[in-house]
Amino acid sequence: MFLYKTHVFLIISLSSITVRAQDDELFSNLIDGGLTPMQNLKADLYEMENKEPEKVEIKLFYECLCPDCRVFDTTSLKPTVEKLAPYLNLRLYPYGNAETIEIRNGVYQFKCQHGPKECYGNKLHACVIDYMSNNTEAVFFNSCLMDSARKNNGSDDEAADECGRILGIYPGQIKYCAKHDRGMLLLKHYGDESKKAGFKYVPYILINGVENNGSKFMKDVCAAFKNPPAACAQAF
Ligand SMILES: *[C@@H]1O[C@H](CO)[C@@H](O)[C@H](O)[C@H]1NC(C)=O
Ligand SMILES: *[C@@H]1O[C@H](CO)[C@@H](O)[C@H](O)[C@H]1NC(C)=O
Ligand SMILES: *[C@@H]1O[C@H](CO)[C@@H](O)[C@H](O)[C@H]1NC(C)=O
Repeated sequence: MFLYKTHVFLIISLSSITVRAQDDELFSNLIDGGLTPMQNLKADLYEMENKEPEKVEIKLFYECLCPDCRVFDTTSLKPTVEKLAPYLNLRLYPYGNAETIEIRNGVYQFKCQHGPKECYGNKLHACVIDYMSNNTEAVFFNSCLMDSARKNNGSDDEAADECGRILGIYPGQIKYCAKHDRGMLLLKHYGDESKKAGFKYVPYILINGVENNGSKFMKDVCAAFKNPPAACAQAF
């Protein structure tokens, strides 16, 4: 009760003088120790009100049937995301070395490196990202599609059904999306973004905008933090 009242009092007094930790530098000073009670409370408040953990941005440009993409996705990306998800800003671009052809106004067809199955698979991936609205979960679903791809030709309806079962997600809307305009427009969008990125091969991996070859992925992600999360201790 006493603590509760103290907190309320200090929240009021702090907000009335609008003391807010505005930047990372101030916050890291606060957690470095040697704090007065008032400073401790500011750190608490910062966390309560607007603290976002430091995040590293990962962009992955890929296509669903490329063997190196499958290996990277399932053996490097997924385990890293499992350990570091809250500290990552993940962006997936499932398009790769495809080609977009506008056959009439607003209607697109695609040519994919590994054929029409890959175009459909990339649409499934794009629809997963769209449907999940949580990129961590989309990485897990798409990784599962890629993993299935090692057993059969993968990232297909059968894989979507299997991954839906494994992850407890009903895949009906994802498959519907991939077969209709939404899937086409999403793939067109990822095509535009991929052309802008201007890569020559996939997987094309960017860690905070810096190209990475994926061979020591988790280690390199961890090295990109100013203050690496505890889970990074295993990466060195
Ligand atoms: C996204 O999904 C992950 C894994 O299920 C979960 O831990 C996280 O809290 C979710 N993020 C948001 C913003 O809902
Ligand atoms: C995978 O694709 C190849 C060539 O397109 C085909 O011969 C094979 O039967 C397919 N395998 C499965 C499990 O669908
Ligand atoms: C990946 O990049 C690192 C340096 O960042 C380099 O030491 C390593 O040889 C590269 N590996 C491959 C397979 O290209």
